[in-house]
Amino acid sequence: MTIRLGVLASGRGSNFRAIEDAIERGELDAVVSVLVSDRENAGALDLAKERGLRAEYIPYDREDREVFERHAADRLDAEGCDLIILAGYMRILTPYFIRRFENRILNIHPSLLPSFKGLHPQQQALDAGVKFSGATVHLVIDDLDAGPIITQAVVPVLTTDTEESLSARILEQEHRIYSDAIRLLQAERHG
Ligand code: GRF
Repeated sequence: MTIRLGVLASGRGSNFRAIEDAIERGELDAVVSVLVSDRENAGALDLAKERGLRAEYIPYDREDREVFERHAADRLDAEGCDLIILAGYMRILTPYFIRRFENRILNIHPSLLPSFKGLHPQQQALDAGVKFSGATVHLVIDDLDAGPIITQAVVPVLTTDTEESLSARILEQEHRIYSDAIRLLQAERHG
């Protein structure tokens, strides 16, 4: 069964691009129904439009975070999204949104969770002196970067690494495993 994806993104959208590429190559039986961004200048928005997909900018109101979320959730529901993909979405979701799409929100985080939650996980890995880090795709729950893990990839940390070089090597793996995770969930839930 073709799975309908709703994407939330704030930035350049390279993970979104990788998922879209996997769909176009026929490696993922899915369709991106809509991409929503909280940033008007997000590269992800341009990319979605270039590919002829529905894409919407919804302004973010810091005073009332649910305003964005209600609007976004209504749009995602209207498009019949089965699964919500956080692809570089840089806001913390409120329990309102998480309840509305319970067990249907995936996030990717550039560390081997439960290590190095939150911001700058690649720098956190360098500071801790670990020899391996990586990327994790997990379901989103109320606790930050803490939901059930769907898949992970391990990336060696080199003595010469900077935050940039480690981030770039982890990102290559992110692009590979996000589609894998969607496929795994799809097989588990929809046969
Ligand atoms: C990725 O490193 C992702 O793990 C993190 O934010 C970054 C987004 O990159 N959550 P992109 O917008 O997908 O290129």
